[in-house]
Amino acid sequence: MKASAPGKIILFGEHAVVYNRPALAVPVTQVHVDVEVLDSSRKGIWIHAPGINLNAELDSLPGDHPIGSVILKVFQRFGFSTPPFQGGVDISINSTIPVAAGLGSGAAVSVALLRALSGYFGQPLADDEVNKISYEIEKLHHGTPSGLDNTVITYARPVYFIKGKPLEIFKAAKPFTIVIGDTGIPAPTKKAVGDVRRLWVRDQYGIENIFNEIAQISLIGRSFIESGRPELIGDLMDQNHEYLQTLTVSCPELDHLVETARKAGALGAKLSGGGKGGNMIALVRQSNAEAVAGALISAGAKQTIITEVS
Ligand code: PMV
Repeated sequence: MKASAPGKIILFGEHAVVYNRPALAVPVTQVHVDVEVLDSSRKGIWIHAPGINLNAELDSLPGDHPIGSVILKVFQRFGFSTPPFQGGVDISINSTIPVAAGLGSGAAVSVALLRALSGYFGQPLADDEVNKISYEIEKLHHGTPSGLDNTVITYARPVYFIKGKPLEIFKAAKPFTIVIGDTGIPAPTKKAVGDVRRLWVRDQYGIENIFNEIAQISLIGRSFIESGRPELIGDLMDQNHEYLQTLTVSCPELDHLVETARKAGALGAKLSGGGKGGNMIALVRQSNAEAVAGALISAGAKQTIITEVS
């Protein structure tokens, strides 16, 4: 039984989304997690995840291991107290999503694994349940996640997301091109969220105002995208990046790549995700995408991805 899940980027609204403001996120299908579950003659539940150097039996993993937690959640959901098979099972997890880069690799592993395992047991989980369980897993490992990652990755469609509100999927009336540039610096989402929290505790009024401005950006960005004027979101990306700088979640490397993209002709650029490392994104004309990606690599980006939002 096989299943896969894409990566994601946040177009607008990271951090503000933790404080109930809207955010816009889109799947990135060029990178993905692929999971395969197969019968095995060897006893036990064996997990092979070469990307993280893991080749182990479930029982040998620490109780809070992210992959082990997903498997145990599936067992709980189906009411299995012992593995419901005679021999063993081999689970292979292969990912092309960079780890700790703000592209949602953790949520994508949960989503693909939930789908592959539930399918293997002959009871494939519906998207709503995949989303709910992967959010529980995110909460185990990330403290206070908004639920944005698991939602956009489960539904693999552009989402307009407000924490705790029903899902809203949106569509780009006219496709547009985004270049993603990876600083190569691991993105400590939990730390970035904690730093914003400390700022908020010190100056609730000021920080709430910034969140309100970002909320406006998400709203207007959605309307530009839905009305076929995606070229106008470039300025909004620049503004959103400035607010994220004020929230102290950018870093010199992200700022450098953002500046480089703009100088190479991008219509706008910002960090994407938790910040303090990880990825930035730039809106580009399709004809200019390769040039911007090249400029980012020359400026030190470890990897670039060109993706089309539609
Ligand atoms: O670093 P990422 O891509 O997982 O994104 C985090 C987005 C935040 O808004 C900073 C946190 C959250 O839970 O939404």
